[in-house]
Amino acid sequence: MSLKEQSILVAGGGSTFTPGIVLMLLENLDKFPIRQLKFYDNDKERQQQIADATEVILKERAPHIKFVATTDPEEAFTDIDFVMAHIRVGKYAMREKDEKIPLRYSVIGQETCGPGGIAYGMRSIGGVLELIDYMEQYSPEAWMLNYSNPAAIVAEATRKLRPNSKIINICDMPVGIENRMKDVLGLESRKDMTVKYYGLNHFGWWTDIRDKDGKDLMPELKEWVSKNGYITPDELSGAAEEEVEPSWFYTFGKAKEVQWLDPDTLPNTYLKYYFYPQDEVEHSNPEHTRANEVMEHREKNTFNECNRIADIQTAEDAKLEADEHATYIVDLARAIAYNSKERMLLIVPNKGAIVNFDEDAMVEVPCIVGSQGAEPLTQGEIPRFQKGLMEQQVAVEKLVVEAWTEGSYQKLWQALFLSKTMPNARVAKQILDDLIEVNKEYWPELT
Ligand code: NAD
Ligand code: G6P
Ligand code: MN
Repeated sequence: MSLKEQSILVAGGGSTFTPGIVLMLLENLDKFPIRQLKFYDNDKERQQQIADATEVILKERAPHIKFVATTDPEEAFTDIDFVMAHIRVGKYAMREKDEKIPLRYSVIGQETCGPGGIAYGMRSIGGVLELIDYMEQYSPEAWMLNYSNPAAIVAEATRKLRPNSKIINICDMPVGIENRMKDVLGLESRKDMTVKYYGLNHFGWWTDIRDKDGKDLMPELKEWVSKNGYITPDELSGAAEEEVEPSWFYTFGKAKEVQWLDPDTLPNTYLKYYFYPQDEVEHSNPEHTRANEVMEHREKNTFNECNRIADIQTAEDAKLEADEHATYIVDLARAIAYNSKERMLLIVPNKGAIVNFDEDAMVEVPCIVGSQGAEPLTQGEIPRFQKGLMEQQVAVEKLVVEAWTEGSYQKLWQALFLSKTMPNARVAKQILDDLIEVNKEYWPELT
């Protein structure tokens, strides 16, 4: 049976991840055929550079795909089946501020966690809601697969403010960690594992991991992670083909200290910001943060390579690579388009999936995905330790969305203070006041 060909819009066409996603889509055309690909961004010049290279790539590898890059919402969102959304409102210039301002006060500066993540959330909510509204106006049947960050806050905002929208929020961190687990176990694919997991986005735990025969893989993994974190055997022995960047290597190693808090489970790497905030501050350079690393490497390399491809009008020797990592996006789109009932970790309304947790919290749990969307699988009751941590964190996320909706300074101060990364209420206020100053263009006015 031939599969219906899809029309895809990449929102945030100028993202550093766009070329990798396009190449990944092209490698998967047999499973997920595409008739039309569009890019949408509100920065014409940035997007055009990626689009010019994409045009060359498509001409060489998939000339049947109709390609359009535009900053016009109507042109972009008309006749679309899936919107793959990865926007960064304020771009890296603002990420740099999110990271550096808290560090002035010896508080962690991070893209999605703590005060930096809250600041980013206050910028992202409006941007993502706008994308949803365009989608519903011009392609009401379409689905949005959102991985714009901070996904936890964005997901809470869409749950609350666009409750009936066809949007699914997803994160690649569990996929990345599961790829490392399969290396530890010596498996072919992460899909050889069936997992149980619960938490919030960037704030969760694996509780059960089995192979295809139902064999419990947790004992071996727990033993490994308690000693090595998520550093793989090949990385340890120096045999790894690809070197992970030093800041990520540190993060994967640090996971062992996070795991010690609850040796029965395996943690998401992002928990390190809440469990060891002072270590993270000490390990940061307040003059040179992750945003600087990304601008100096990923952003520069991606745009240089796209410009080179456009100049020579061939991508035959292109140094751009398919983002293997991103195949989870095709899995998700496929599951919806062809009702494949794939089991995936997604960010969804709890509604009882975690039995002893807020009904209306956005949680990250395994779901079965089909043409109706995501059906969460119940993860039962969770222990007091995780429940306590998650209640504090979900309150932060909900307060941010309330602050954005109501324009409330007080609620945003409460949100910052309640983040486990924050030493006291006075510092929270100082950081908030500095963040307001630089975010005037992006945040609603707070009174
Ligand atoms: P980037 O800055 O390179 O790209 C983002 C693009 O979004 C830019 O071209 C920008 O002009 C555009 N943009 C900003 N605001 C917009 C708006 N309102 N409407 C349309 N376009 C807009 O950033 P990046 O590093 O490539 O990351 C892109 C996004 O993907 C970020 O939100 C990042 O956090 C997220 N991300 C998420 C995951 C995940 O696991 N969920 C993984 C990787 C990246
Ligand atoms: C992981 C997370 C994303 C986050 C990214 C940051 O993939 O799941 O949510 O955006 O890391 O990576 P970067 O290379 O931009 O620091
Ligand atoms: Mn993520």
